[in-house]
Parts: sequence; C-alpha cells; structure tokens
Amino acid sequence: MKEQLDQLKQFALESLQGVTDNDSLERLRVEILGRKGKMAELMKAMATLGDEDRKAAGAAANEIKAAIEGAFATVAGRVESAARSERLGREWIDVTEPTIGVRSGMGNLHPVTQVREDLEDLFSSMGFIVADGPELESEYYNFTALNIPATHPARDMQDTFYIEGHPDMVMRTHTSPVQIRSMQKYGVPLRAIVPGRCFRNEATDVRHEHTFHQLEGVVIDKGITLGHMKGVLETVAKHLYGSETQIRLRPKFYPFVEPGVNGEVTCFLCKGAGCRLCKKSGWLEVFGAGMIHPNVLREGGVDPDVYSGFAFGFGLTRLVMLKYGIDDIRHLEGGDLRFLKQF
Ligand code: DAH
Repeated sequence: MKEQLDQLKQFALESLQGVTDNDSLERLRVEILGRKGKMAELMKAMATLGDEDRKAAGAAANEIKAAIEGAFATVAGRVESAARSERLGREWIDVTEPTIGVRSGMGNLHPVTQVREDLEDLFSSMGFIVADGPELESEYYNFTALNIPATHPARDMQDTFYIEGHPDMVMRTHTSPVQIRSMQKYGVPLRAIVPGRCFRNEATDVRHEHTFHQLEGVVIDKGITLGHMKGVLETVAKHLYGSETQIRLRPKFYPFVEPGVNGEVTCFLCKGAGCRLCKKSGWLEVFGAGMIHPNVLREGGVDPDVYSGFAFGFGLTRLVMLKYGIDDIRHLEGGDLRFLKQF
C-alpha cells in the first residue's frame, strides 16, 4: 500500500509539471483527488486491510494526500499569475498616447469681448492706456463729481440699482466715473480708455437691458481742442466702419462736458443714402462726447485754466448689435450658447 501511495504521489508531481492552464489543472485534480479518483480508489482498497496495517496506511495516505494537495495549490498559484501577466500584456495601454481624433470643443470669445479687444488695440496704438474702475461705484463718482448734483434731472435718466443699507453706493450707470478716477490716479497729461460693464434700472425690451457695456475715452493735456476730439472719433469710426465713413457732430447736453456733442457716423448699411437701420437719416448715433467741463477737471485735481481735454463714451453693446445686425439686446447677456457660438 505504501508503495502505491508513493507511486501516486510521484505520478501527481510529474503530471503537475506539465500543467499550464486551469482546465488541465482541474482535469488532473478530478483524476487524482476526485470522488472517484485514484486517491479514493486507494482509500477504498485500504478498507480491506487488517487493523494494524490499515492504521499505518491511513497515516501514510493522509500525509501523501496533504503533499499532493500542497503541490496542486502551488501549481494553481503559478497558473493564475501566468494568466494575470498574460492579461496585463494584452490589456496594456499607453497613457501618454494622445486621444487621436477626439477634438475637445473650442470656445470663443463673447462678441462684446471681441469688439472691446479690437478697440483696445486701436486705442493702444494711439497711445491710450486701458483703465478700469469699480462696477459698484460711489454716488459721488457716478454723479456728483461729474457735475450731476443730487437734484439734477439727469439722475432720473440714469436710474440704477442702489445697495440696501448703503445709500451712497450705486451700480455705475456709465463708465464716465473712471474719467475722474483716472485723473486722480494718473494725473495729467492723460490719454485713457475705459471699457466696462454698466447697469441701469430698465424695463427690459429689445433695446433696453439692465446690464450693458460702454467704452469711455478721456484725453487731457495743454491746448486740447474740439479738433483733436473730432480727429480721434473719426479714426475710430473709420476703423469700425471703413475708410469712407464720415462723422458729424451736433450739439447735445451732457452735464460733464461743455460744449457737449452727439457724434454720428454715416450709416454703414446704406452708406448714407437712408435705410431702415438709420431710420432714413443716413446717420447712426454712436458717440456722446464733448470738452470736459471745468468742474469735472477740478474734481479730478486738474487745473482747468492750464489744461483742457475731451471725453467721449459709446455703447460697446450697441456697436456689437449694429455690427452683427442683432435685433434684441437681451441676447448679449442671456448666456444662450446657441446665440454665442455664432461669433
Ligand atoms: N456717459 C454718457 C452716457 O452714459 C456717455 C457720454 C457722453 C460719455 C458724453 C462722455 C461724454 O464721456 O463726453 O450716456
């Protein structure tokens, strides 16, 4: 019996050596250790032995069975790790490989940003700095310092949002307060533009929006005249609408300039012939402008007896609407990607 057991062990170890996959391992397990396998046969044969012999054979059988099971476990581990490295080899990915063919979506700049950047380039080329100021502004800078005292009716035309608990703060209604801030910060001579967001308490419709963009300009030096102003506005108009464009200036009241003008450009659509866009006039109203009022210069710390200057302001939002033929101002702050992706 002992001999047969040793032979079985020998057979098991030799057979296991050739095993490389789970299926043949399992077949071998059934053949040797299964219920009707070689080991079970030997056990059955043992039952016919006498007491003494059976005891000895039983002890030997347990020992050999344990050895065979140990050998199976070792081979099972080997097969498993071979399978794993084979799988890893097959599933290998190159994490540095670019995802070819999958292009991530490209964004684009908001049309107002595009026009603003274009104008910043133009003005920079003429020696202007690009200045900035707060959107939440003091009533003083937004109105009072601009020669619009508390009781002035011009405040009604620019109704805006006030801040609860801060009666002296407003959401700025125009970029003009930065005229004063720039004078105070940079002194004179001064050449600055101020593009920025403005706010008004409007009943919104296709032409009115509570949030919009303006671009302010200010030039101060000794001997600045209306002629300089016209030259700058003409340059801007030709840049925007082509070299044929003309401008015309007509008197208009703004509290912070004297004289104040309304700047118009020849309608780019009909070239001045008169059309629906310019309401048959041939002209489009674009600029507010004028010679800076002495009171405003004084508020900025500039001596109006020595220096003079001009200022202008226009709606960037309005320029964009004209440029692209946008018929509803509310699209511009609406954040609707179907609209914005067209630019
Ligand atoms: N601040 C004016 C507005 O919002 C526009 C304007 C008019 C600006 C005349 C100026 C100016 O600098 O001189 O309607």
